[in-house]
Amino acid sequence: MIEKLIDLRSDTVTKPSPEMREAMFNAIVGDDVFDEDPTVKALEEKAAKLFGHEAALFCPSGTMTNQIAIKILTQPQQEVICDLLSHIYYAEGGGVAFNSGVSMCLVDGDRGRISATHVADNVNPPQNIQQPLTSLVAVENTNNKGGGSCYTMKQLSEVAAEARKHKLKLHLDGARIFNALVETKDSTQKIGKLFDTISVCLSKGLGAPVGSLLITSKENLNKAKRVRKVFGGGMRQSGFLAAAGIYALDNNVEKLKEDHRRAKNIEMILKELNYVDSCLSVETNIIMFKLDDKKSVPDFLNYLSKNNIKGYQFGKQTVRFVTHLDFTDSMLEKLNNTLNNY
Ligand SMILES: Cc1ncc(COP(=O)(O)O)c(C=O)c1O
Repeated sequence: MIEKLIDLRSDTVTKPSPEMREAMFNAIVGDDVFDEDPTVKALEEKAAKLFGHEAALFCPSGTMTNQIAIKILTQPQQEVICDLLSHIYYAEGGGVAFNSGVSMCLVDGDRGRISATHVADNVNPPQNIQQPLTSLVAVENTNNKGGGSCYTMKQLSEVAAEARKHKLKLHLDGARIFNALVETKDSTQKIGKLFDTISVCLSKGLGAPVGSLLITSKENLNKAKRVRKVFGGGMRQSGFLAAAGIYALDNNVEKLKEDHRRAKNIEMILKELNYVDSCLSVETNIIMFKLDDKKSVPDFLNYLSKNNIKGYQFGKQTVRFVTHLDFTDSMLEKLNNTLNNY
């Protein structure tokens, strides 16, 4: 029997389950650029309602939903405040400059979480023409590079209140928002109220093969649709993909708790290993750990790979594991044995 690959590089590696494939197969579709795909419409309405907003736009990726949000909420020469561990800064190809012509004011938060004070201290005085006009605050929840850290509702509300005091717009990169919400038990409605735009990924922990949603107002939707078009993100019979998204929202949110339980288990295993220097405390499904200086990350990953396990290098001594729907308890047991035999 061929042993199954244990792929912990990311939660984006999942394959659609038979039930999800069935939902995709049976989807009723139309040309969504002509606004004629009922399944896409159903997904967009569902997502908008869930977060208490008027509208949502189905896009191919989380990078696109983030980039569209920044484009519609800013003007060239303006500035975005965000944490230096934000995906929009370090992993979207400099898109904020390329697409929107804005600069970034990077703050050094707590594992990717910014505070109201960071906002207050970094808003440029609007009358000073030498400085870019601050116009947007972007937060990422959970924060990927911060090891799946999540905000409390209090922290988010304070950031939002400070931003509003300065008449700034607010974007949430909620690629993994449901990972945060199953932990904090906050509601989608409450979180939705704080932001002008929310990006939610269906292709990460929720197990869909493709797709992200940009959730916002009707007014913003019209602008966002134009930007999606010029970014090349208008899709035709995308109802097949939207059906997977609907299935994911209906069936896979609660399952994230299992991913978190397994991630916490891995943290406990790692903390017992003498070649592991440190591990960020696990909050959701992302495990970030550092190897001892004497160990090489490529050698370690090579050893894992020979044992049919994949991890991801995330810095000189840092490795990332991410748990997901296709990672089971028996795989956890095998991982434990393999880690202990290194
Ligand atoms: C926090 C965060 N935002 C956005 C994205 C971008 O998503 P995509 O890969 O669908 O473009 C990612 C991808 O890993 C992410 O982790």
